Amino acid sequence: MAKAAKRKTGKAKAGPKIIKGLVGVYADTTAVSKVMPETNSLTYRGYAVQDLAAKCEFEEVAYLLLYGELPSKSQYASFKKKERSRRALTRSHQNVIAEFPKSAHPMDTLRTAVSYLGTTDMAWGGEPARKDLDRAIDLLAKIPTMIAIDYRLRSGKRPIRPRTNLSMSENFFHMCFGKVPPTEVIRAFNVSLILYAEHSFNASTFTARVITSTRSDIYSAVTGGIGALKGPLHGGANEAVMEMLQEIGDPNKAEAWLRRAMKTKRVVMGFGHRVYKQGDSRVPTMHACLEDLTAWSGDTKWIEISNVLKKIMIDEKGIHPNLDYPAGPAYYLMGFPINLYTPIFVMARITGWSAHFLEQNADNSLIRPLSDYHGPKQRRLKK
Ligand code: COA
Repeated sequence: MAKAAKRKTGKAKAGPKIIKGLVGVYADTTAVSKVMPETNSLTYRGYAVQDLAAKCEFEEVAYLLLYGELPSKSQYASFKKKERSRRALTRSHQNVIAEFPKSAHPMDTLRTAVSYLGTTDMAWGGEPARKDLDRAIDLLAKIPTMIAIDYRLRSGKRPIRPRTNLSMSENFFHMCFGKVPPTEVIRAFNVSLILYAEHSFNASTFTARVITSTRSDIYSAVTGGIGALKGPLHGGANEAVMEMLQEIGDPNKAEAWLRRAMKTKRVVMGFGHRVYKQGDSRVPTMHACLEDLTAWSGDTKWIEISNVLKKIMIDEKGIHPNLDYPAGPAYYLMGFPINLYTPIFVMARITGWSAHFLEQNADNSLIRPLSDYHGPKQRRLKK
């Protein structure tokens, strides 16, 4: 057992064994993805994620995760057609988004916008898989539109209609900024979505599976997943990384900043992982995209700061960066405001959550662990 797992696994006095944070616990089987910390690798449905990132569009990977196999040419064409035809939101859905306070975090507005969709489609767990697959494609198609409409409105701009002749990545830039950037930017964005799509029983996916296990519906599971992803120890880390890099602000100040952080035991965002202890399998692929974006933009500051922190953290603490570390500055160089980074993560992870919803539903057992009571002894109510 890893050192961290041992430390967190305490035995209560004469009580049951507590595995705090469920460190090292296998909660179920899955055929969606395999995380292999011993070889720093990750597969989706058996395919290495690096190969998928190098050779596939995000939509193909979405199909793979949802259906279990890569699509044939005709399957892919009809999947894309369906996804593209579902991008637009109803007028009432847009009105709901328009009502959100402009000061709200986009993860909060997205969580509510997804939940709203659930009010328009009465759904329960345990329905035939084809119905939930259809809902999953609807969520995949509409979540980028929800994010973009909210972003445009909070920036005081009119929403831009989705286009059906663009890929998901191209269309997202079109809906946010009214234009599609050059190929290298689209490629990097597409890769980031593939890398963010799925990662076994992480906190948000497990949340979604817990909700699914009560025979609740896919919208509830995804809404719960968004709530879990928002936290900076999970998906929110990609925003926190960029805020940290901005706080440092200058490559010449990076080492001193980090030494202070280490001294004060400050958590360095974008480092560490519950499962990977020798490096995150997805980082080299995303770091290469960050290098491409740096070359494309000519803005070298962020990669310079990040390289200083990375070297010291690995050499002196043995703590490696996770995917959020290169993803944060990559999204910055693509031109997105920082508070959109975790919503972009949702655009990708909706595929993994949906695949796990389907898997949990197909072989369900209510997820309901036990707790060891440590409160006051039973006492008489004197009233
Ligand atoms: N900065 C500084 N120290 C860190 C660290 C970080 N980002 N991540 C882990 N450590 C240290 C811990 O303080 C601990 O040190 P100790 O043994 O001296 O107490 C040791 O490394 C083991 O870490 P632990 O907290 O047991 O790991 P975990 O599995 O519980 O936590 C995370 C994993 C992801 C929650 C944690 O690494 C973290 O908070 N990272 C920053 C947030 C982040 O990037 N999240 C995205 C994850 S994909």
